[in-house]
Amino acid sequence: MRKKIVAGNWKMNTTVSEAVELAKGLVASLNEVPEDVKLVVAPPFTNLVPVSDVISGTSIALSSQNCADQEKGAYTGEVSAKMVKSVGCSYVILGHSERREYYGETSEKLVKKIKLALGEGLSPIFCIGEKLQERQDNIHFDVIAAQIKEVLFELSAEEMAQVVVAYEPVWAIGTGVTATSEQAQEIHAYVRGILAEKFGELAQEISILYGGSCKPSNAKELFACPDIDGGLIGGAALKASDFIAIAQSY
Ligand code: 13P
Repeated sequence: MRKKIVAGNWKMNTTVSEAVELAKGLVASLNEVPEDVKLVVAPPFTNLVPVSDVISGTSIALSSQNCADQEKGAYTGEVSAKMVKSVGCSYVILGHSERREYYGETSEKLVKKIKLALGEGLSPIFCIGEKLQERQDNIHFDVIAAQIKEVLFELSAEEMAQVVVAYEPVWAIGTGVTATSEQAQEIHAYVRGILAEKFGELAQEISILYGGSCKPSNAKELFACPDIDGGLIGGAALKASDFIAIAQSY
């Protein structure tokens, strides 16, 4: 059985007090979420500790939105996988399209990050997804295959078993345009097929999340697809009631 995961990527939103309020809202409604759905929250680095305090003792897991591609030392402004682990994270989002696009995150860097994260016992939520132009040019399958092969094919099966994949078509992120459930399922099945090329049966065990304008009104249809194992939620994760409603869609 694959793990069902609903993860909230808070991006560069929330002050400490706002983050604490949001986390408290989630804890208060946690009993409304099916037990087999794992909730993960990914606040900004500055809010990991206060949010960790709020969710401590609950089933909600903590994630960072990134980690450094170096272990430690003179890398001003960076936060290492070990630091992320030390504040109570069990997940780390890596390769988000916003990091690829605005911060020059390459597959080469992502291999280093994912290995360091795995070395600390963190589960990477590894993001992939094509841009609008790539879909229009009908090269989206190739783009996704390359994103997977360049990074995940560098892992051992033991390492891969700890990874969660998130398919986030760039054209659906923050745009209000969601991939249809058919489009999402098509890619998710394709991703699982590529993973099977390298990892065989293990591919059936890997959770593949959908992200991109996922909200309470469309989550049910997306989550009903056989290869969609949950969601990576941006905007709708900033409102406790919406995030909980998405998790309840299972
Ligand atoms: P939205 O849900 O705001 O489209 O963002 C999705 C996302 O990028 C999550 O990582």
